[in-house]
Amino acid sequence: MVFCLSKIAFIIFLVFLNPIEGRRLISLRCFNSIISFGDSLTDTGNEFYLTRYRNPSPYFARLPYGETFFHRPTGRFSNGRLIIDFIAESLGIPLVPAYLGGKDNVKFPQGVNFAVGGSTALDPAYLSNKGVKTTTNASLVAQLGWFKEMLSSHCKFPSECKEFLQNSLILVGEIGGNDFIYGFFGNNTKEKVESYVPAVINSISSAIQEVIEFGASRVVVPGSMPLGCSTALLTIFMDSNKEDYDPITGCINWLNQFSKNYNKLLQMELHLLKQLHPSVTIIYADYYNAAMQFYLSPNTYGFTKGALVACCGAGGPYNYKLFELCGDPTARNICSDPSIYASWDGMHFTEAAYKLIATSLLEGNFTFPPLPKICSTSLSPNVNHSDS
Ligand SMILES: *[C@@H]1O[C@H](CO)[C@@H](O)[C@H](O)[C@H]1NC(C)=O
Ligand SMILES: *[C@@H]1O[C@H](CO)[C@@H](O)[C@H](O)[C@H]1NC(C)=O
Ligand SMILES: *[C@@H]1O[C@H](CO)[C@@H](O)[C@H](O)[C@H]1NC(C)=O
Ligand SMILES: *[C@@H]1O[C@H](CO)[C@@H](O)[C@H](O)[C@H]1NC(C)=O
Repeated sequence: MVFCLSKIAFIIFLVFLNPIEGRRLISLRCFNSIISFGDSLTDTGNEFYLTRYRNPSPYFARLPYGETFFHRPTGRFSNGRLIIDFIAESLGIPLVPAYLGGKDNVKFPQGVNFAVGGSTALDPAYLSNKGVKTTTNASLVAQLGWFKEMLSSHCKFPSECKEFLQNSLILVGEIGGNDFIYGFFGNNTKEKVESYVPAVINSISSAIQEVIEFGASRVVVPGSMPLGCSTALLTIFMDSNKEDYDPITGCINWLNQFSKNYNKLLQMELHLLKQLHPSVTIIYADYYNAAMQFYLSPNTYGFTKGALVACCGAGGPYNYKLFELCGDPTARNICSDPSIYASWDGMHFTEAAYKLIATSLLEGNFTFPPLPKICSTSLSPNVNHSDS
């Protein structure tokens, strides 16, 4: 009897350990790893590493960051897991390690994350020339530099890199959001910020083409989140003009229109890239509409406190203050249940919101073509998948 029970427990344990066995995402098993570029929506510890000697430690390196899942700050800008973590879980691979955190011991075949909090698609010098100040110099170009550094130190032959890249899901983004947020934070006009949208798209396009040249065969490119629903931007642009706000979501219309226009241009560029590289699967991930689900009806998804007010902050109408961020000693207005909030700290989402977005993407609801179909693209025949 004891034996039987433990056997059952073991089977249940396996199902939980390997979510793929228990769900319908079997087709996604064709990836061995994830390679990712991006900003704080995706960073699993690079900025944490870059700022490790800073005293006092940066806001995101303190509790309550990480409280819900990891029970300690990991460098993720959330209370728990991010979209990339949920994708990794569904692939049955370990959570993707931050490149800088483990240069020497990153188990390369398990994937690697180059995303850095605060990172921009454009070179900070370019933005600075436009009068836009950034807080980090780790741009997409810098991340590509690390990527090449990693390839050259890992692969004995170019074919080895090619094989690794072909069996990886390459995530290019979300990136570009900060280029615009820095612009808006600096009181630049919408026209000014719009003037460098084409440059942002060029930068992302170049990065995609570069990873394709190294052998990437499946690339997922997320678009912009609805910036008009960002707690931080809602706070900065708080005004009494009712016509600026969407009556259902409470988001700022012109800012959401900005994101929509950008996403349209990004998709046009991806369309061009698909024509240039017909053998590569390039997938647009519609973060905008995936997130819009909970902005349109927060209660449906359990966000009973609404989707706009931050869980953790220093008070104010949206519980967000520019100079008193979650994690700072004065930001004491911390919710007791982050799962009923979508906004974590005003700039980033809660684990619950990330989970919803990731689940939607994994079901193919907001990816074009649908993410689950990505595995019908053939893998290099000499690769052994029986280990997954
Ligand atoms: C960023 O700047 C610092 C010092 O200014 C420098 O040491 C570092 O190498 C730069 N990082 C990147 C990714 O360019
Ligand atoms: C932006 O403008 C607001 C109001 O005009 C001002 O309070 C704020 O300091 C300005 N911010 C920057 C970064 O210049
Ligand atoms: C995806 O779309 C299907 C069909 O509309 C729906 O039943 C399902 O709940 C959606 N999944 C998510 C996570 O939004
Ligand atoms: C794949 O790996 C398994 C065990 O790791 C081995 O038995 C099998 O021969 C390998 N197949 C190929 C085609 O290399």
